[in-house]
Amino acid sequence: MAKILITGGLGYIGSHTAVALIEKGHTPVVVDNLSNTRIDVLEGIEKITGVRPEFHQLDLAIATDVAYLFRTHNDLDGIIHFAAYKAVGESVAEPLKYYNNNLTSLIYLLQEIAKGQRDIPFIFSSSCTVYGQAKDLPITEVAPVVPAESPYGNTKQIGEEIIKDAVAANGIKAIALRYFNPIGAHESAAIGELPLGVPQNLIPFVTQTAAGIREQLSIFGNDYPTRDGTAIRDYIHVVDLAEAHIIAVERLLAQENELPFEVFNLGTGEGSTVLEVVEAFERVSGMKLNYRFAPRRPGDVIAAYADTKKVNEKLGWKAKRSLDASLASAWAWQQRLGKD
Ligand code: WQD
Repeated sequence: MAKILITGGLGYIGSHTAVALIEKGHTPVVVDNLSNTRIDVLEGIEKITGVRPEFHQLDLAIATDVAYLFRTHNDLDGIIHFAAYKAVGESVAEPLKYYNNNLTSLIYLLQEIAKGQRDIPFIFSSSCTVYGQAKDLPITEVAPVVPAESPYGNTKQIGEEIIKDAVAANGIKAIALRYFNPIGAHESAAIGELPLGVPQNLIPFVTQTAAGIREQLSIFGNDYPTRDGTAIRDYIHVVDLAEAHIIAVERLLAQENELPFEVFNLGTGEGSTVLEVVEAFERVSGMKLNYRFAPRRPGDVIAAYADTKKVNEKLGWKAKRSLDASLASAWAWQQRLGKD
């Protein structure tokens, strides 16, 4: 089958994609600079699959690291590029760190593909954040990309623009996958989300509150114009998300893409309010969650959930796992972490 480079491959979505690749008979080559994860994620991948993927600790924003990687790997069949900083708040405080890391690494990778003899498929980890507060819901891929709310979101927008131009100039084949809200963990609880420090995202904060690590969950805003006043998001199980990456890279390997650069929304197509997530979590975990209503968080949109028609039709992919299953897997993972 295919040898696929996964950058950021020990990260949350990267590690789940490494597992999905192995389970489909492919060979991942995992690269990570370990700036936002732990080396023992490699053990988790091996525990699930019985395969310990080839791993290199490299920083793809450093030219010599990228040159080393491609000098020693001239047999790659594809690249799935996750490696990026992704904390929205931190990106506002340190924009240059985000532009340098996220865009330099992308440019170096595309340069390697452009100068190589083989135009290997390139899958880019993008985000629904490019839509900001979309006027029409559910959100389709032709919804306008609006000025980003954060430097993090801007690196995704600029990243897609860079890829589009590189595809046009160098004949590269690429797919950008715009994630909605990835949550949950592998059913084995051997890998999952590893938020280092105070979690910014909802689900790790929920599970850490239930585990007693956090005192109380603050629900940011209960005065939104939604069914219960709290904001709406499209929460997608990380394993569903990982499986979509395999289908996307196989699409390019089989040259089934209709355009040299394609964009797909990855969501369930269902919107859930924060309160509905909290209630679902209490139901699946049997835990009572301590929460309060707090003021809205700057930069948050009211509602975002995906129109999944395009990805259903073109990739033949549909999210399979329910919100309850995603939350149950997140809780199982948190309980496992609690024991470490
Ligand atoms: C979800 C909802 C919060 C924490 C971001 C990025 C996106 C992607 C996913 C990287 C919102 C509310 C949250 C809390 C809360 N990141 N919330 N209390 O902001 O939709 O998306 O993370 O790939 O690109 O933009 O996700 O989980 O932070 O928030 O009430 O302690 O939960 O206000 O309504 P978000 P989130």
